[in-house]
Amino acid sequence: MKTLGTYSAYLENALRQERFPDAPANLYDPLRYFLQLGGKRMRPMLSLMACKMYSGSFEQALPAATAIEYFHNFSLIHDDIMDNAPLRRGQATVHEKWNPSIGILSGDVLLVKAYSHLAHYEANLFQTLFKIFNQTAIEVCEGQQMDMDFEQRNEVNEAEYMEMIRLKTSVLLGCALQMGGIVGGANPKDAKLLYTFGEQLGLAFQIQDDLLDLYGQSAEVGKQIGGDVLANKKTLLSISAKQAANPTQLELLQQLEQTLDPVFKVQQTQELYTVLGAQHYCAQQMQLHHQRALNSLEQLENVGSKIELTELAEFLFSRTY
Ligand code: IPE
Ligand code: IPE
Ligand code: MG
Ligand code: MG
Ligand code: MG
Repeated sequence: MKTLGTYSAYLENALRQERFPDAPANLYDPLRYFLQLGGKRMRPMLSLMACKMYSGSFEQALPAATAIEYFHNFSLIHDDIMDNAPLRRGQATVHEKWNPSIGILSGDVLLVKAYSHLAHYEANLFQTLFKIFNQTAIEVCEGQQMDMDFEQRNEVNEAEYMEMIRLKTSVLLGCALQMGGIVGGANPKDAKLLYTFGEQLGLAFQIQDDLLDLYGQSAEVGKQIGGDVLANKKTLLSISAKQAANPTQLELLQQLEQTLDPVFKVQQTQELYTVLGAQHYCAQQMQLHHQRALNSLEQLENVGSKIELTELAEFLFSRTY
């Protein structure tokens, strides 16, 4: 079994091999900057591991894994503009360090580069992967739009939230696993199960991302703490808190949404969410989807060891960043 560290070292090294032109510097410097900030490299790792389960080796999934990681980084550069986020991976976001126009365009290049990597595969395999990748890319945009639309709405229910995070986050994990599996030779039934594993893992992952956004340590998470509260994002925390609130608490929550002092707003909201059991509820829901993910993995037949994916799921579940 390879450890997570071995996979991430392999990926870091592979990603470093890509040479972007020097000019225009304002297009390519931000790309180099952002890609070198690292990140967990979870999605490409999922592709490599899924491939290895079927073929015994992971190298042939590198182009698909790179495409996924590039797409993810493109989406983060744009997401940080949309979310007005100052920090990413412990450093200034691209639009802060340069400006939003540069963030938009350098993100676009990364998206195109993602396709260049995918085009590495022979025609038939490429067609299959291209279809999955495009479907996923569109869904991520749909999820992102729902996320932003929800900021403007007062009422968003739990089912709407779950569908939004399925689209903005989970489908990309599903896609990473499915593509890796297909490159490795998985049959359609297993490819589908891998996708479901990723989907459930992604739901747990995004709920945890929401938790870390409010309860994490900035030095570990590498993002601004309380960003979701400041943007009045609808998260499982905010939805479950509202559901548990009595009329007085509900009014307090509504007042806090209008509060301008950022430190006060984040601190008070966090305290109230905890009192209302929202943190606890989210941790439970996370556990539920983690378990559902493992159940899908269980159903895979005729594969090599599932231990690497189980271990990665475990790592994600216990992460603090
Ligand atoms: C952040 O993803 C965006 C979400 C979908 C929550 P990651 O937490 O995987 O970001 P990096 O790549 O490790 O920085
Ligand atoms: C990001 O969701 C999802 C995508 C980029 C598609 P978030 O906005 O919660 O991610 P972070 O918290 O900024 O990493
Ligand atoms: Mg966002
Ligand atoms: Mg964001
Ligand atoms: Mg977040």
